[in-house]
Amino acid sequence: MNSYIGIDLGTSGAKFLLVAADGTILAENTQSYPVYYPQAGWSEQRPEDWYAAALAGIAALLHGQDKAAVKGISFGGQMHGLVALDKDDNVIRPAILWNDGRTEAQTAYLNETVGKDKLAQWTGNIAFAGFTAPKILWMRDNEPENFAGIAKIMLPKDYLAYRLSGAFCTDFSDASGMLLLDVKNRRWSSEMCAVCGIREEQLPALHESYEVVGTLKGEIAETLGLGPGVQIVAGAGDNAAAAVGTGVVGEGGCNISLGTSGTLFVSAAQYKEDKVNALHSFCHADGGWHLMGCILSAASCNAWWSDKILNTTDYAAEQNGLEALLGKNDVFFLPYLMGERSPHNDVSARGAFIGMRPDTTRKELTLAVLEGVTFALRDCLEAAKKNGAAIPRTKLCGGGAKSPLWRQIVADVMDMPVDIPQTEQGPSFGGAMLAMVGCGEYESVQQAADAIVHVKETVLPNKEQAARYAQKYAHFAKLYPALKGLFIG
Ligand code: XUL
Repeated sequence: MNSYIGIDLGTSGAKFLLVAADGTILAENTQSYPVYYPQAGWSEQRPEDWYAAALAGIAALLHGQDKAAVKGISFGGQMHGLVALDKDDNVIRPAILWNDGRTEAQTAYLNETVGKDKLAQWTGNIAFAGFTAPKILWMRDNEPENFAGIAKIMLPKDYLAYRLSGAFCTDFSDASGMLLLDVKNRRWSSEMCAVCGIREEQLPALHESYEVVGTLKGEIAETLGLGPGVQIVAGAGDNAAAAVGTGVVGEGGCNISLGTSGTLFVSAAQYKEDKVNALHSFCHADGGWHLMGCILSAASCNAWWSDKILNTTDYAAEQNGLEALLGKNDVFFLPYLMGERSPHNDVSARGAFIGMRPDTTRKELTLAVLEGVTFALRDCLEAAKKNGAAIPRTKLCGGGAKSPLWRQIVADVMDMPVDIPQTEQGPSFGGAMLAMVGCGEYESVQQAADAIVHVKETVLPNKEQAARYAQKYAHFAKLYPALKGLFIG
């Protein structure tokens, strides 16, 4: 049976899946690389590290496997990162990532001087600091020599496709997060190119996520022991790929992802725009669209709290026994470690614990972290509901979804059933599915999802806990407005 490689080019590392055409996972591998924080609020990675990780990850994945069966490779990639190459294809500077907050001035220029109305009219979105266009303006303002040398602008996963195949391309879902795409009409916005001082030739060719963009270069195929003609398929932004991987395609599905970032993703068959632009209006990887809220720190809050503060990576032990406290914890945590995207759009927001007493325990603080992240995602749910989205249930994926405790918190805080897919590795599984569709294994993304995505378990909300969380959320929703503007670091 043919097999396909899905690569999730994440922030804490890259995950690789080898998936048979019937959805069976044959092998997996993870490679990590550093994130650099050269100044407070900045966040960068080296694209060369991603490529080295891709070669190492694919080689490890294929160890002992039938290499001749591999027909295609595709991606789910961290979104919005600015990768700039010069005319000789050298990376000009480290990539500026999705959670980088340096572009406050450029974001304000776009939203206030160019104007939110115009941005929304041209792109379906307003500017957020992590989007790509403000970063291009930041380079123009702060690194004019680097800016002048830009020959190609691309997104993180597109750098991999470029190195692997030579195709300079992107897909509509990922391109949506650049604030350079006319999302409704699926074409670059000439107005936004003019605002950013770039030409369309500097931007990659646009594809649907499931389209073949090239063939794996002969020398790379040889080194990896792969046959000739392995197809490189465009792939998607990691959230759209995760939605594919959890079967959230077509109209009205919902996926929540608890990765480094947290997202609430609502799929739509038709173009939709958030009336107040709190949620992003982006293209989906199935040919449709979606609305999405993104919080910048999700499972990363738990990693920060456990690894850095408590000095433990045994999350399960740390969460042991916390079920008894669900709905009863009176400590709040605001998860804005990297500032916040949806819905507050505030790079200066910061994390906070609120409501401790002399008898507050370590366990309550741990629980508060998980609850605070989930409440921030509830903010996104409320924004989606204001846009008329009916969301009766959700899928859940990402590293945080491995925790049974956190799954229950999501079910209780959202007060809806939470479906756990068989593989919680949404973006890499979705990437492999896009490769399958590109190579003709399935006729459409929907067909692939119907055939190979399965729910393994459903977590139901506990009505008593949900009622208590509804009360606690009402307080949580008042905390950010009360603290806004008071953070100094
Ligand atoms: C989405 C976003 C994040 C990154 C994380 O808008 O910024 O989810 O894609 O990889």
